[in-house]
Amino acid sequence: MNIINARLRGKTGLYRIQIDGQRIGAIVAQSAVIQATGVTDLDAGENLVTAPFVEPHIHLDAALTAGEPKWNMSGTLFEGIERWSERKALVTHEDTKTRARKTIDMLVDHGIQHVRTHVDVTDPSFAALKAMLEVREDTRHLIDLQIVAFPQEGIESFKNGRALMTEAVAMGADVVGGIPHFENTREQGESSVKFLMDLAERTGCLVDVHCDETDDPQSRFLEVLAEEARVREMGERVTASHTVAMGSYDNAYCYKLFRLLKRSKINFVSCPTESIHLQGRYDGYPKRRGLTRVAEIDRAGMNICFGQDSIVDPWYPLGNGNIVRILEAGLHICHMLGYEDLKRALDLITDNSARTLHLGERYGVEVGRPANLLILSAPDDYELIRSQGHALVSIREGNVIMQRSPARVERLLG
Ligand code: FE2
Repeated sequence: MNIINARLRGKTGLYRIQIDGQRIGAIVAQSAVIQATGVTDLDAGENLVTAPFVEPHIHLDAALTAGEPKWNMSGTLFEGIERWSERKALVTHEDTKTRARKTIDMLVDHGIQHVRTHVDVTDPSFAALKAMLEVREDTRHLIDLQIVAFPQEGIESFKNGRALMTEAVAMGADVVGGIPHFENTREQGESSVKFLMDLAERTGCLVDVHCDETDDPQSRFLEVLAEEARVREMGERVTASHTVAMGSYDNAYCYKLFRLLKRSKINFVSCPTESIHLQGRYDGYPKRRGLTRVAEIDRAGMNICFGQDSIVDPWYPLGNGNIVRILEAGLHICHMLGYEDLKRALDLITDNSARTLHLGERYGVEVGRPANLLILSAPDDYELIRSQGHALVSIREGNVIMQRSPARVERLLG
């Protein structure tokens, strides 16, 4: 199969991408637009061809549960956790699998092929984890799924929390999670980070911690996580999700913190639609945005990407799997609509996210890598955002797994 008339990010001109079986066989510059010859040519129509979109932070086990049994009326994160703990009592194996599969279909329909999902393991029956381990196998032809053992109700402050985390990793979770700001005390928060880093180091797992997901400027577990990563030289395998308290830190503290963060080499995930919705809830005016310092982290040369976090769950009632919607919202919220940011906006849902997931050579439009590719509806990053564009074709290991027909508008008066 060939993709013809393709534009590539960071390059000028048009290209033909030759797919040999499951791999990219060749990338050849074209001197002009060419016509498709035969059914094996896919015409990109002078639009971008990229590696697949990545969803680096979602909770598939909670997706599609908003309003069951009750809606989150205050819109706060803490009421979300309460509502979820009620819904969790009703979770069954099939219920989790069905909702996760539906949600994965939504992600696939929007060009996502790599997903990191947090799965609540503060449940002695591991109902959700067992279901998600099966979903990971059942959906390999559609996505690569990383499962985070996520202690929604704490490691130190939940009964047998440490044992549950250890067991979840033994059962097959890929990533060790945490939630230090939710533990009962500062000391528990710190010891939970040390525990989870020990667990990851011992087992070879990656790390992704819900870290300082609160407007409280005194919530400073990021420094603990970064220092643990720096000392153990694990930074590239470690991710701090949310870190929204950083939006409330004063600049003097943040200046010092950034020095540590850079040396630690850890990755960051921001979920802009979720955070703008959940944070700032206890403020009058002026009201905080409740996001981490996305632009500043990016400008400092550190790795940051965007995620959806929720699709129709107790924490966030909307969502449809479209990560470009999250990107557009994030660029607005984070003051990143300058042209330099717009020109490379897709980094935040492609390359940066792939680095966070530690995908290495399994990702990217390069000869020899897996033929996992998207044909987008626009010729460059800026135009995709401006036009609220889409992935039109998603190719996985050389097979087309999704094709979208663009909406057609007929103007009746000129
Ligand atoms: Fe989350």
